[in-house]
Amino acid sequence: MHNGTTITQFIIEEQRHISGATGDFTSLLNDIVTACKVISNMVNKGELIGVLGSAGSENVQGETQKKLDILTNEVFIKSNEWAGHLAAMASEEMEEIYPIPAGKPRGKYLLTFDPLDGSSNIDVNVSVGTIFSILRCPGSGEAPAEKAFLQAGTAQVAAGYAIYGPSTMMVLTTGHGVNGFTLDQDIGEFILTHPNMTIPEDTREFAVNASNERFWELPVQRYVQECLSGTEGPRGEDFNMRWIASMVAEVHRILTRGGIFMYPLDSKMKAKGIGGKLRLLYEGNPMSFIIEQAGGMSITGRERIMEIQPENLHQRVPVVLGSKNEVQRVLDYHREHDAMDQE
Ligand code: AHG
Ligand code: MN
Ligand code: MN
Repeated sequence: MHNGTTITQFIIEEQRHISGATGDFTSLLNDIVTACKVISNMVNKGELIGVLGSAGSENVQGETQKKLDILTNEVFIKSNEWAGHLAAMASEEMEEIYPIPAGKPRGKYLLTFDPLDGSSNIDVNVSVGTIFSILRCPGSGEAPAEKAFLQAGTAQVAAGYAIYGPSTMMVLTTGHGVNGFTLDQDIGEFILTHPNMTIPEDTREFAVNASNERFWELPVQRYVQECLSGTEGPRGEDFNMRWIASMVAEVHRILTRGGIFMYPLDSKMKAKGIGGKLRLLYEGNPMSFIIEQAGGMSITGRERIMEIQPENLHQRVPVVLGSKNEVQRVLDYHREHDAMDQE
């Protein structure tokens, strides 16, 4: 018998403090938790159930879809379309929004998700995850259009991710701090194991895909160069580096022991006319909400991610997030650089 707090119990107790809460939100989170348990099981079984490998198709971003990208997207839709909490969903794997089908009750929330983050890692058995964000649906009950989703990250009601690693964990914020739950496979419940997660303000560990270095802007090149110069450089300290290529796993490491994660703007992206690698509505915003709630900072390099007014569903943004003092330093370097440019 476990004596821990289950995620359901935790959410119900948290919602008790909110006047006017109807139980709708609690129940929506429950359906998301169920979807993540199903995905955890699929990821865990892997080739035993034939889910690894490419699906031979491309998503709206022009990326090759893995079988699991498609399967996990379906799991999320099936788990969340029936109960009457949502008005529509949007996902990395679907070009258009997914309104709740006629014949099913329509609710007051919107859900955005990246059903499988880090999917390039799936075939090599490295951690992957699921990221989600919950928004209120504007308007009064009519079927929403894409425009309903174009809300700044500051409007998020809740955000979270599941990480399918050595343990499956769920990390969640509803705007009152960040809490982590570990899936006990024997009883099928997420148990509160990491209450009130906070990010150390200082760090000596950075994460960036350094193969893109020659394409970065000067402030990012300067920051990373200074880290690499270690005790001999201007920082006077040695830094460590990690790159997992699963944002979920990088953010989880940062929440656990601090660090800075960067997927900055680069000249290759500019040439393609895109503003970054990661997607604002289902990667940048939910992760920024979690990071800020844990005491960290999350910016594009120049501005706070959660204050960006989204212009379209699959918009991309540069991301620099993690331990406050390092992210602030990257912001300062961009400001210094931009100020010199204007002189
Ligand atoms: P996704 O698998 O959902 O497309 O996201 C992958 C993202 C992110 O998780 C990771 O940080 C980054 O892409 C890795 O990019 P590189 O392969 O360019 O390093
Ligand atoms: Mn992703
Ligand atoms: Mn994905």
